[in-house]
Amino acid sequence: MKGIILAGGAGSRLFPLTLVASKQLQPVYDKPMVYYPLTTLVENGIRELCLISTPHDLPRFKNLLGDGKNWGLTIDYREQAEPKGIAQAFLIAESFIGKDPVTLILGDNIFYGADSFKSAFDDFKTGASIFGYRVHDPERYGVVEFDEQGKAISIEEKPKAPKSNYAVPGLYLYDNQVLEITKNLKPSPRGELEITDVNVAYMKLGRLRVHKLSRGFAWLDAGTSSSLHEASAYVQTIEKRQGIKIGCPEEAAFRRGFLKLEQLESLAAKMPNCEYRDYITRVLTEAKR
Ligand code: DAU
Repeated sequence: MKGIILAGGAGSRLFPLTLVASKQLQPVYDKPMVYYPLTTLVENGIRELCLISTPHDLPRFKNLLGDGKNWGLTIDYREQAEPKGIAQAFLIAESFIGKDPVTLILGDNIFYGADSFKSAFDDFKTGASIFGYRVHDPERYGVVEFDEQGKAISIEEKPKAPKSNYAVPGLYLYDNQVLEITKNLKPSPRGELEITDVNVAYMKLGRLRVHKLSRGFAWLDAGTSSSLHEASAYVQTIEKRQGIKIGCPEEAAFRRGFLKLEQLESLAAKMPNCEYRDYITRVLTEAKR
């Protein structure tokens, strides 16, 4: 399975911060936002990645992440000239996807919680798999409605009268049919190729699975100044309390076996003296025990 990180968009809600760097490059506590979705993909075994951003911001992502080789990954880059919708990512990355299944993650979605996506990734064979997460303000999101058997029966994008409290987070798994489905989509009234329309198309074909995420799982949105601040505070609280890092791609690559111990050691050796390096050193010490 290949992985796309969508990290473009206008970033207008974070103005004037976005004059300095795009939304997905802003710090969430101790690392750039894009580290979190990148780590989510790596934790779930994805090592062939493509990052999509604006022509203006793409060079900064390339500077930050490079070709991925240092982390045992490959990272391709593609430009989205204008924000014409989340689903446009599949058309932009068509040559990267080739004939493979693909997972898409939004560059501003932060997830935290043990193994919540594991079974969705492990069990994925065909069709589409998305997630449902209980929120108090579903009208801000794609909303999925379930029948009594727990089967998804409707999905609506930002409905005024939501039929459930289950929002669809920005992580989606698709087989290769996603390309054909996206090519047949019409832009929505707001002029975008909607990811919700892709999910509805799979649902109508009877090829959609929706996994409900558990209550203890955290899905953080970092799209406004206050949610960005709250996400930082959350990450700091967990990291301080548990002595672990959330969203550390080097650690995730090491734990997935994409990086050998010696490779992680040499990465740590190249880092400046800082907390991040101390953490990687601790991961190494524990691995050697
Ligand atoms: O966060 C989950 C929600 O994301 C879903 O529940 C919704 O169904 C989905 O439409 C989306 O809603 P948003 O209102 O959050 O979408 P937004 O336009 O803010 O875009 C989400 C991210 O994707 C944002 O970081 C910018 C990026 N993006 C968006 C568009 C439309 C792009 O890179 N290119 C685009 O064309």
